Amino acid sequence: MKKILFVASEGVPFIKTGGLADVVGSLPKCIDKEYYDIRVILPKYTCMKQEYKDMLEYQQHFYMDFHWRNVYVGILKAVYDGITFYFIDNEGYFGGNRPYCDDALYEIEKFAFFSKAALSALPLIDFRPDLIHCHDWQTGLIPVYLKERFAGNEFFRGIKSVMTIHNLKFQGKWSVKEVREITGLSDYYFAPDKLEAYKDANLLKGGLVFADAITTVSDTYAQEIKTPFYGEGLDGLMNARAHDLRGIVNGIDYDVFDPATDTYIFQNYNARDFRKEKIKNKLKLQEELGLEKDAGTMMIGIVSRLTDQKGFDLIAYVMDELCGDKIQLVVLGTGDERYENMFRHFDWKYGNKVSANIYYSEAMSHKIYAACDAFLMPSLFEPCGLSQLMSLRYGTVPIVRETGGLKDTVMPYNEYENTGTGFSFRNYNAHEMLQTIRYAEHIYYDKKREWNKIIDRGMAADFSWFASAAKYQEMYDWLIG
Ligand code: ADP
Ligand code: GLC
Repeated sequence: MKKILFVASEGVPFIKTGGLADVVGSLPKCIDKEYYDIRVILPKYTCMKQEYKDMLEYQQHFYMDFHWRNVYVGILKAVYDGITFYFIDNEGYFGGNRPYCDDALYEIEKFAFFSKAALSALPLIDFRPDLIHCHDWQTGLIPVYLKERFAGNEFFRGIKSVMTIHNLKFQGKWSVKEVREITGLSDYYFAPDKLEAYKDANLLKGGLVFADAITTVSDTYAQEIKTPFYGEGLDGLMNARAHDLRGIVNGIDYDVFDPATDTYIFQNYNARDFRKEKIKNKLKLQEELGLEKDAGTMMIGIVSRLTDQKGFDLIAYVMDELCGDKIQLVVLGTGDERYENMFRHFDWKYGNKVSANIYYSEAMSHKIYAACDAFLMPSLFEPCGLSQLMSLRYGTVPIVRETGGLKDTVMPYNEYENTGTGFSFRNYNAHEMLQTIRYAEHIYYDKKREWNKIIDRGMAADFSWFASAAKYQEMYDWLIG
């Protein structure tokens, strides 16, 4: 039995701010249990919902040397859907009402603590992984520590590591002096061929240099991050490690995201009866959100973190033109204040056409995936994107920009060949996006049979973890030997 450990800063159902949590919560379930014992370590955040905190069982605790102090590390455990999750407890670091805060230096300290604590906890829980699979910058120190202070310890010798990039934009950067103090790493590690990048210390870079293999969450993003535009300053390193870098596209949890059984939505439906049943979700949502109740109006959805990454500048630019069309726009998201206010403004301006829901809600997100006719995701960059996969699964036609995982998962509609599962445009250009939305409107209003066939193809596509889990297993086998 090969032992694999996931370490990450979030994972469903315990804590989620974005797609990383979906991946960390759903991928382990799809790894073959006959050959792999796969477990997960997460922080125990005070802001986790009470029902999940109630599931955690105290295991033990110890004190760890960290940042000139001796710091409490509690270990808790929960088994959920057959997967064992461990939680690192320290209320100082993981308190507060959100998992992350805006103080970049504090975040570095918090996740340096988490990374060291996760490794230190392993001998105590008696789980010696053959491979540690690290996710995003928050765990970038793990491959470094494995080759540094833990290397001398028999227990850790030979443990392999994989670093998965879910988003290269976030790297965990701060001045070398302070990061050196926090991490306790010697000067040797703060050189441009190790943790240093552009004079700063960079935790993700450390992970990318020291991990045995690197993955990211789609093929196209794996190519893109080797270029300056998408490389976020690390394209040189991505090129240098190109042989150890592969793209494995994300899947989604087909049990959780299933319009036939989803308990959050008003009306269940499937690939056979969506023509008749799906629309009931739209009518109900229109009622709930105070939009004009009209089964015939094309409803476009957005469920997203409201950040630059997601292409909202394009939407802002053509919103007035778009709202001149016969459409409704339903937005669910939180994030940068300027985007929150922009959607609030358009909600006020176009009351019965635009609904801005500036909050986080699992239930509302499912209702939107089920109710809408189309889903808009014009991202500036998108490592994979899960929302478009959820839309496909719910028979909601994605309209996306051809970047990263959006390019790999949404096949553009071709009216001559009768192929495609959505609509896409290439350039980061507001009018190119608007034209594409209008083309989709045309098919929706004037060629409904064709529209429904696009849905047929989208719902038939398989974006469960099945194929991608096999690729991770192949990589684990190759690394572990
Ligand atoms: P990212 O990880 O960049 O945020 P993804 O498309 O990979 O983008 O994943 C986003 C995930 O977060 C999806 O599961 C989406 O439904 C969910 N999500 C984003 N914003 C909200 C929100 N306000 N309420 C509920 N779910 C949300
Ligand atoms: C990141 C990316 C998103 C991806 C998710 C899960 O948050 O922004 O594109 O789907 O991670 O890998």
